[in-house]
Formats: sequence, C-alpha cells, structure tokens
Amino acid sequence: MALLAAISDYEVALERCLVLNAARNVMSPGARALLGSRLADGDLAGRPKEWGGQYAAAPARAIENVARTLVDRLFGTPHVELRALSGSLANGLATIATTRPGDVLLMPPLWAFGHICVARQGFPGSGARTVAEIPWDGAALGPDLDGLRGVLRQQPAQLVVLGLSRPLFPEPMAEVATMAKDAGARLLYDGAHVLGLIAGGAFPNPLASGFDMLTGSTHKTLPGPTGGVVVCRDPDTLEAVASLGDAWLSTYSNSRIAALAYTLEEMVTEGHAYTRQIVDNARALARGLAAEGFPVVGAHRGFTATHQVLVDITDIGQPGDAVRRLAGATILINPPARADRRLRDGRHDGWWLRLGTSAVTRLGMKEDEMPAIGRILARLLLHREDPSMVSGAVAELVEAFGTVRYTLAAGTVPGRS
Ligand SMILES: Cc1ncc(COP(=O)(O)O)c(C=O)c1O
Repeated sequence: MALLAAISDYEVALERCLVLNAARNVMSPGARALLGSRLADGDLAGRPKEWGGQYAAAPARAIENVARTLVDRLFGTPHVELRALSGSLANGLATIATTRPGDVLLMPPLWAFGHICVARQGFPGSGARTVAEIPWDGAALGPDLDGLRGVLRQQPAQLVVLGLSRPLFPEPMAEVATMAKDAGARLLYDGAHVLGLIAGGAFPNPLASGFDMLTGSTHKTLPGPTGGVVVCRDPDTLEAVASLGDAWLSTYSNSRIAALAYTLEEMVTEGHAYTRQIVDNARALARGLAAEGFPVVGAHRGFTATHQVLVDITDIGQPGDAVRRLAGATILINPPARADRRLRDGRHDGWWLRLGTSAVTRLGMKEDEMPAIGRILARLLLHREDPSMVSGAVAELVEAFGTVRYTLAAGTVPGRS
C-alpha cells in the first residue's frame, strides 16, 4: 500500500538524518506511545468540567489535571489553555481573547522575525485589530526601548507582544512590561520557540517579569507532541482565552494532552539538565562554525543564549543550493530566511541559515560533538565537497546517538509526585 510505504520511507529518512532544524525535536517513546492510546479514538469535546459524569470522563479529566499541575510546577501558574493545536493557534486565542476590534497590538517587526500569525496577515488582522510595529534596534537584535516608550505615549496600545522565530538573546522583558503596564497595555510573550527553555529554566520566564500570557509550541524546544499552549498569569485572563477556545475548538485530540503531560513530567525531572545542555551545545556549535570560517551572528555577545545559531550565508552561496547540499548529506534544516539589511550591515539584505540544537541534544550529543557538526557544514558549504562524500561522516555521528535521553526512568509514573 502506497501510504504505508511512504510512512516507512519517512521513518527511515528520519532515522538516518542529522536534525538541525530549530523547530523540531524528538518525542520520547513513552510520550509517542500515548498519542496512539484509545484517547485518540473518539475525543471528549469542550472543557473537562463540561464532560460531567459521562462514561470514562473521570480518567480523561485526570490526565488534564496532571498536565495542569505540571504546568504549574514548570511555569509558576496552573492557568493554562491546553487545547490549541499549534503555537499559531495559541497566539490566535491569546491575541483575540484579550483585545477588541479596533484595538492596537504592537509586535516585533516581521523583518526582525516577529511571527506572521500575530501580524496584520495573521489572527489580529483577520479580527480587525490594528497591528503596529515595536520600534526595533536591528543591530542589537532587540526592541528599541526609547522608541517603544515614544510609541506608547503617542498611540495607546491594548496589547504588546514580544517573541521571535529567530531568538538569540532574551529581550529586556521587565523594562518592556513596566512600559506597557504604565501605558495600560497587556503583554503577551510568544514563546513558540523558547517554551521548553523556559520550562527548564534556561531562558527567563516572561510571566515572572509581569507578562500576562505566555504562548508556545509544545514541539520545539519542548520535546512534546505538536500543539500549543496559552499559559496565563491569572484566572480571569485564562477564562477569556478559554471562552474563545470554546468557540474556536470543539474536539482537540485528548491523546495529545496525555503525551504533553508525559513530556512535561520529563521536563520536571530532566528539564534543567536538558535545556542547559541545549544552550551549551548551541554556543559550542557556533564557536565550531566560527572556527571553520563561517560568519556567525551574535559573535560579540557569545553567539547565542538559546537553542538557535544563525549563520550569515549571503556570501557563501545560493540559499537553495545550501538546502540541497545539506539534504544531500541527510541533514535536516529550515530553509534559509531573508535577513533584512537592518539586521546585518545596514546596507544589504542577505540570507541567514538557522540551526537548532534541541533535537541533537535530546539524542545525547554534547559540546564535544559540536565541532564535528561544524566541520561537516564547512565541508558542504565552504569547501563544496560533494554531499555523497560527506554523508558517511553524518551517518557515523547519527548512528552513535540514536537513543532519546532526558526522559523518565523506567517505572516512573507521570503525575504521581
Ligand atoms: C515566534 C513564532 N510564533 C509562532 C509560531 C507558530 O508556531 P507553530 O509552528 O506551532 O504553529 C512560530 C513558528 O515557528 C514562531 O517562530
């Protein structure tokens, strides 16, 4: 059957490849198995409190309670909307639930890698919200605080959003929060990428700096099933988000919540070590790439404080060619993104290749392996060796790291502690 053959081909391809795609991770076998549980057969719709006494509602409700308790332990609040099926949808719920048509939402510019789902083209624009840019200091890779203060003085905003798809360093969250609150605006941190780092303590928790909501994907630095969450600081904000969730979502895949709860338990026990290693690996990879001769973004600030490493490949070759060369050597990456001149030298746009260390770290790689990855990328992109000559070195590395780490010890029962 063509379908099964295609699935098998995909499995084989994934097993062989080196995953440097910053938006991907590896679920543990324990979490993956829960996705296939009977919870996937026929979903319970709506909020758990509405399931009443229907057959088998109690254990399904218990799963949600475990997830909520673990969110509380990791993020400092149990007020979470778990039903969003992606980070984008979580942002949709958060932005629309807390604003009204005509309200103004400030977001990082798209050219600085704010995400399109919180832009005019995304949920806020579709809901007749006015979207404006936070003034941005491209060279510093962060908000221009004086500029933001000025904008908030001139134009009342109801919601200020921070968070990028290419985050290297934490923004000055407390400063932005103070400014926004003084101006009467609420705050959302779009942590699609950094949610797992926050859970493990390797990236600051925006809720602790006064943000009202933290959204995120549950499958990027958090190594869980595909999905999204809206974590709220107070119950009233959650009620607004969840009420909109009632309207936007009916069934939402309860087995996904079970797999997420399993992943959250992994983060409670292993998250600190895992996320520390992700960042250490990213720095080591950046150093390795720089030593090979790649221009790596953020060198003057230690390259990165997240899972991401950004390489400026403008003068190295065509972005499409880089993708083909890396794919030819079984390396999985995100396609390079256009880097606006304001993020580069101020004169020319270019291309940034984004690499991520979440998946390779999950499989046990440490700083010692990062120079080897840098060398492989140099052979492919700088020395233009034929990918078939490099794939052996990739296979050797992948074969040595085939087991998921930072998962639960055998016999651990998630949610018991
Ligand atoms: C900053 C940011 N927000 C939102 C999203 C959307 O998340 P998802 O892919 O889970 O829909 C992304 C995706 O990469 C992102 O980078």
